Amino acid sequence: MEQGNKILITGSSGMVGSALSRCLSKSGFTNLLTPERIELDLQNYSSVDNYFSKNKPEYVFMVAAKVGGIAANISDPVGFLEENLDLELNLFKACYKHKTKKNLFLGSSCIYPGNAPQPIREECLMTGGPLEPTNEGYALSKIVGLNLAKYYYAQYSMNTVCPMPCNIYGTNDHFESSKSHVLPALISKFVNAKDDCLEEVVLWGTGIARREFIHVEDAAKALIFLMNSNYNQPDIVNIGYGSDISIHELAELIKMKVGFTGEISWDSTKPDGMLRRCMDVSKMRNLGYSPSISLQKGIEKTIKEYIKLKHKRKFE
Ligand SMILES: NC(=O)c1ccc[n+]([C@@H]2O[C@H](COP(=O)([O-])OP(=O)(O)OC[C@H]3O[C@@H](n4cnc5c(N)ncnc54)[C@H](OP(=O)(O)O)[C@@H]3O)[C@@H](O)[C@H]2O)c1
Repeated sequence: MEQGNKILITGSSGMVGSALSRCLSKSGFTNLLTPERIELDLQNYSSVDNYFSKNKPEYVFMVAAKVGGIAANISDPVGFLEENLDLELNLFKACYKHKTKKNLFLGSSCIYPGNAPQPIREECLMTGGPLEPTNEGYALSKIVGLNLAKYYYAQYSMNTVCPMPCNIYGTNDHFESSKSHVLPALISKFVNAKDDCLEEVVLWGTGIARREFIHVEDAAKALIFLMNSNYNQPDIVNIGYGSDISIHELAELIKMKVGFTGEISWDSTKPDGMLRRCMDVSKMRNLGYSPSISLQKGIEKTIKEYIKLKHKRKFE
């Protein structure tokens, strides 16, 4: 990508899309297209086609997706599958029709089978057992996206790279909504419990599940790296930090960083989700990218940002 190229970022109002915009702007890219939903309705092909005709993007970061935590995924599998399929089909079709130079389709580590050997290698896709049932609709939609990338490459030589990130957290995250993932939800729970002088915080599951986390700035840099690299094929690339942590340890770490002195209790009637999801990131490292923000540092930064946000909301 050159600094003057027209670069479309879908989902630019979200956590990952906004980090990408900031990162690209910082690196001197001046021609970023960052439409809101009202200007570009990704579920409507005419809207997508018209937008591409008018704005002629050369590089497309397909970041927009319906995203949510475990409760949202369990309660609305139809919504996760349907909405994400709509926007993927429309975007791939428009990228092909308007002859973009290179695209990036953002997947997720939940595409791997629930019992995949750990750390999970890219080759595990569609092998072994079934998908983790708690987010099957979302995972299936991402698998279709990967296959669209593969088919458009095989049939039309359309160049799309497909990074598969682990859990992403950080600036612009969702802290207190049905979209919250585990790490921002833990931050808001502990900060709020401390502010409200509570004696106990109740958390979902048993805490034994293990997850891998990458800070959104590192994730955005990895995506830009891949788009800029001479890696020009749809074979997936894991994006992660390379190590995982149990939810129990994560909760204790966040509790300590927040300074909450009450107790943690675990509601084991609620699901843990997949027991372990840690990715083998050697392919990403061999291509030349490694993240730099440690989980400790990233959590400290995110706690500060949440406290600032909460304070700001109070005075709005
Ligand atoms: N967060 C993670 O831990 C994680 C991990 C792995 C992969 N990912 C992937 O990263 C991407 C971004 O996730 P995120 O965490 O940044 O989510 P997010 O903060 O919820 O942002 C999602 C973005 O997509 C847009 N969007 C959703 N549905 C849309 C639609 N039908 N039409 C137009 N825009 C739509 C949203 O627009 P509105 O603001 O209008 O809603 C928002 O800008 C997703 O593809 C997700 O699968 C995320």
